[in-house]
Amino acid sequence: MVDSLARASELTTEEKASLTSGSSFWETEAVERVGIPSMYLTDGPHGVRKQAQGGDHLGIGDSVPATCFPPAVALGSSWDAELLERVGAALGEEAKAEGVGVLLGPGINIKRSPLCGRNFEYLSEDPIVSGRLGAALVRGLQSQGVGASLKHFAANNQETDRLRVSADVDERPLREIYLRGFQHVVENAQPWTVMCSYNRINGVYASEDPWLLTSVLRDEWGFDGLVVSDWGAVNDRVSALVAGLDLEMPSSGGVTDAQLVAAVRDGSLDESVLDTAADRVIRLVEKALAGADPDASYDADAHHALAREVAGRSVVLLKNEGVLPLAAGAGRCIAVVGEFARTPRYQGAGSSQIVPTRLDTALDEIRALAGDASVDFAAGYALGGSEDAVALTAEAVSVAAGADDVLVFLGLPAEDESEGFDREHIELPEAQTALLDAVIAANPRVTVVLSNGGVVRVSGWADRVPAIVEGWLLGQAGGGAIADVLFGVVNPSGRLAESIPLRLEDTASYLNFPGEKGHVRYGEGLFVGYRDFDARDAAVSFPFGHGLSYTTFAFGPVTATATSDGGIRVSVDVTNTGDRDGREIVQVYVSVPGSRVQRPLRELKGFRPVEVAAGATATATITIPAGDLAYFDTEVAGWVVEGGDYVVSVGASSRDLRGSATVTLAGDGARVPLTVDSTLGEWLSHPVGGQILQAALSQSPEAAGMGAMLADPSLRRMAESIPLVRAAAFPGSPVTREQLDQLVAAANG
Ligand code: BGC
Repeated sequence: MVDSLARASELTTEEKASLTSGSSFWETEAVERVGIPSMYLTDGPHGVRKQAQGGDHLGIGDSVPATCFPPAVALGSSWDAELLERVGAALGEEAKAEGVGVLLGPGINIKRSPLCGRNFEYLSEDPIVSGRLGAALVRGLQSQGVGASLKHFAANNQETDRLRVSADVDERPLREIYLRGFQHVVENAQPWTVMCSYNRINGVYASEDPWLLTSVLRDEWGFDGLVVSDWGAVNDRVSALVAGLDLEMPSSGGVTDAQLVAAVRDGSLDESVLDTAADRVIRLVEKALAGADPDASYDADAHHALAREVAGRSVVLLKNEGVLPLAAGAGRCIAVVGEFARTPRYQGAGSSQIVPTRLDTALDEIRALAGDASVDFAAGYALGGSEDAVALTAEAVSVAAGADDVLVFLGLPAEDESEGFDREHIELPEAQTALLDAVIAANPRVTVVLSNGGVVRVSGWADRVPAIVEGWLLGQAGGGAIADVLFGVVNPSGRLAESIPLRLEDTASYLNFPGEKGHVRYGEGLFVGYRDFDARDAAVSFPFGHGLSYTTFAFGPVTATATSDGGIRVSVDVTNTGDRDGREIVQVYVSVPGSRVQRPLRELKGFRPVEVAAGATATATITIPAGDLAYFDTEVAGWVVEGGDYVVSVGASSRDLRGSATVTLAGDGARVPLTVDSTLGEWLSHPVGGQILQAALSQSPEAAGMGAMLADPSLRRMAESIPLVRAAAFPGSPVTREQLDQLVAAANG
């Protein structure tokens, strides 16, 4: 048990100010006079990047070895919260062994555009996937007494101009798409810290936005941890503190601490605000001390094995026309083409870059699993530097020509995607697609294995190869995981957590990304990823939620019932109709056909992995909390669960729905308030207002004209669009302005 530390009230103003900023790049300030030690925060998210003392951003690549787990792009494709909780716990063990109090992750920003340079660090284009999986990572990490830092809060969906750009986004998409995942993690996993992002939101820096950092995060969601700035995100320290930013990182060398002290002295900053922030830092240090263990260590072999298991669950089998799994054994000849098989691309560039404890290559692991089969390799292309494309292609073609199976490893070179800048296209390098053409011409039995952090276009060649394995960036054990999937040691169960478009031009944010002159307009609103493709019934290469298995699953009838707290319980039997054990990810999509507001055609509201042995049946039960069915009503200024019919579809992707059921919900009774400017239609469809208006119309003979108009179906549609105040102003109106106000009061009362 750790003794509690001094409180802010025992500190001088200078000490409090110093406590609320870093002492170095990675440490908080100590106050030795009263025995408050400093604590260590470090990246994150998919490994521990602990740099040597004094390290800064320039020291990326120079940290202590740690297990490089699969980055978020892969973790997201596992759709497996239980597994991610184990990853979180393993990260916590490693952080503890390195004396780290807070690991800077997970990152759960929505993949708004495939071009975002940092998409490899994010989980999904969908907030339910991001929220569920993000919460699991936080729970796992914090189970080890190490804090998480949920980032980057919020609407940090691009790297272009990331330190200044304003994400101009309407409140509904902001709430329903961009904040929903954060809300879920905060409410369900209580991260010790939340990291505010660099960017502005609707013109206000996240680091100094009281609406974001206090009204929403603390007052609405009940966050009781600490808000830390992204590294260098503070624009104005005093405004930031007032808005709810508790800890500025890294150190400003005392410059901004002095600004706080001066503001307290001149009366422009209420000292109690500083006390609150300082107390939050002290509480965080206490938690870190309680979790610390100077003797902590971890089992690097076990973590490598976990990294391989997780990577195996994250691989998405996009296409398979009878070529996978590969047959091993004597007499078989497997050709492996592509430098990535020998030199893996396994994580992205920037602050998340881990120095791995070891690194598996797909080529070695394929050889290990191939038994007596012969495995021949040709690089096919070079990574960086000059290359003799003709010679490399010729070698690859000769290796591929006589083989039984050809595995072609393609992907994005490291320099194509990174924190700090966005991509300009989603194409594979031309040298690689030219190589693929040449190999297909020599031997069409090709499986393409992809390594990429952001989505790549496959539509130029996907129909010309029998199999495609999306390997994302799989961490240090990814080579083994790829081999496991190729040979069927692991039956693939990864599913796309982001759509693969036919073309970049088809994506909803295409014309609004990355903005200009300091603003990016989220003009597509709610229609991000599959919400857009499905609403427009637009073709994609592979839809959200898609992923194949080496077995097949049949879904039984769907049952959906209302729960006592306003949500929906969905249940479906899944039968493994093939001859291999496998895992299906049961996905639940919900539509509200009669909604009074614009909604996506369908939205993912729940999912669950189920293990089903060959020939067996398992029941998947998924409960959707009422809150997840709500839309954010800007007039009510709150979340609303509409009463009415909800169509619940269950399937294997957003485009592969296998059954549905309709459930009628009472809703939460929230009503959009009526005003004098509400239309006659809005009045009449309001359960209370409608009756009041009808009664008023029937009371006076003068109103009979309007009543008759509303009774005539052809005139009614025209009349319905007239605001009440305008209707009341027509000659001969029976209603005075005062009476209108009484009607409004009665309707809303
Ligand atoms: C990144 C954060 C990271 C921090 C510390 C920033 O540039 O945006 O994700 O945690 O640096 O390295």
